[in-house]
This record gives sequence, structure tokens and C-alpha cells, in this order.
Amino acid sequence: MTEALHIHHSLPEGAAPDWTVPQDWAHYTADEHAVWDKLFARQTAQLQGRACAAFLRGVDVLRLSKAGIPDFNELSDRLMKLTGWQVVAVPGLVPDEVFFDHLAHRRFVAGNFIRRPDQLDYLQEPDVFHDVFGHVPLLADPVFADYMQAYGQGGLRSLQFGAIHKLARLYWYTVEFGLIEEAGALKLFGAGIVSSHGESIFALDDPSPNRIGFDLMRVMRTNYKIDDFQQGYFVIPSFEALLEATAETDFAPVYAALEGLDDLTPDDLLAEDRIFTRGTQRRSAATTG
Ligand code: PHE
Ligand code: FE
Repeated sequence: MTEALHIHHSLPEGAAPDWTVPQDWAHYTADEHAVWDKLFARQTAQLQGRACAAFLRGVDVLRLSKAGIPDFNELSDRLMKLTGWQVVAVPGLVPDEVFFDHLAHRRFVAGNFIRRPDQLDYLQEPDVFHDVFGHVPLLADPVFADYMQAYGQGGLRSLQFGAIHKLARLYWYTVEFGLIEEAGALKLFGAGIVSSHGESIFALDDPSPNRIGFDLMRVMRTNYKIDDFQQGYFVIPSFEALLEATAETDFAPVYAALEGLDDLTPDDLLAEDRIFTRGTQRRSAATTG
């Protein structure tokens, strides 16, 4: 369970044709369970008042506080009753069409390895803590659950348009790094933020990043960096609004319109942006000189 994550380009040995593998829960060591427990305690304490209500509710109804790395079968039973989703294990990152196909069938693919005790604060590849603690709580929310399935269907469709990179930005700025406005205050919902000890403070409190109102085209024009905290976050008004702007919109004309527009960088601001916070960009100035 401690092997490093590999990006597989062909079906790994022992994996099913849909790339899933058994989670093999019995093989986690006591030390591995202890890493989960430590991360879980630290993040749930930090996320009170910071994560959106649906996320905290999901942690609760899915009983993620039970000690140790969650057993995917048990978790899937609970999730299935709530929203019809399952959690399945994969050996690492899977090809895009495999990923989309699982989402389209309400199956969330999760890595089964957990980071080492010296990697609590940062790890580039998604482990079981990021995948399960970060992503799964919101799958207990019926509207977000529908959004994730629609995203999978949209992902399969994007392949026909050669638009996967544009669509990936939507995932990045919502599912991974999204903010939501709740009762007049900004809250966290993106999995990459809620599973990160540093970014779950930075994304809300730091003066460095921009925070901009969500707009579909704007998001799909904006590229992103994967190796540091974000320079810009997008704020959705509600999961219903996000679902409406995406699932109920035909992306074919959106993709066509995007062809004629230049990409934006993560720190760009446009005159038409609805700005919640104009960032100082102090962090990126400090790290990139
Ligand atoms: N409606 C999009 C399309 O026509 C699909 C989609 C739904 C994409 C939800 C993302 C999220 O392709
Ligand atoms: Fe993720």
C-alpha cells in the first residue's frame, strides 16, 4: 500500500478492464491508519466555519470520523443509499476516458495508497486522504452528486471536440479549487483546498490571490498551475447555479467560441470580472522572483 503513484498508460497487471483494483483494506498497516487519523483530526478542526455546510454534512453522514482509512465498500454502501454513488480503487491516475466513464456512471475513482508520515503537509499526487476526505463528502449532496456525473458525461463528449483541456479547467476551478458564497461569506468546497492544511487557510484569508465570481467562459479560458497555491479562485453562488450553468448548457457553441479567445493566466483580471478580492499576488512575486 505504500508504493509510489505511477501514471499508467496501459492497463496495469491485476486491474480489471475498467482499471479498478481491490482496495485491499486489510493490508493497511497501523501506521498508515494513523496517518489518516492525524490528517482527519487536523483538517476537521481547521475546516469548522471554513468549509461549506454541505461538505461538513457529508463528513458527518458518511461517518468519516470512524478511526482509520475508510473501507471503500462500507463507504459505498452509505453513499449508494444517499445519492447512488460508489467509491472504487484505482492504482494511480487513469486515462481521461476511463475517468470520465466512471464519473458518468456515478463511480468515484480513488487512489488506495496513503502518504508517508513525513508528507502530511504536501504531496503532489492524489492519495486516499485527498481523494476520500477531499472529494467524497460532497458526493453525499444530491446536487453536487449530479454535477459530478454530468461532468463525466461532458468529459466523454469533450473528446469529440478536442476540448478536454478547456473542460479540465472547469474541474480544476470548481471540483478541486472552488469557493462558494454562503450567507454572504466565502466558504471552501474544492477538494484540493479542503484536503490541504496550508491552502485551506490561504484560499480564504490570504491577501495574495484574486477571488472572482464564477463565469463559465471565464473559467474555461483560464489556465492553471499545479505546483503552488492558486493565484486566483472562482466563487460559485450555489451548487444549483453551477449545475445549471454547466449541465443545462450545450458546450458545443461554448467550445467554438473559446477557439477565438486567448487564454488567461491565473492572476489576470478582466474589466467584466465580478471581483470579491483583488489579490496582491505577493506570494507568487515572492516565489517566482
Ligand atoms: N453540458 C455540457 C456539454 O454539453 C456537459 C457538462 C455538464 C460539462 C456538466 C461539465 C459539467 O458538453
Ligand atoms: Fe482531486
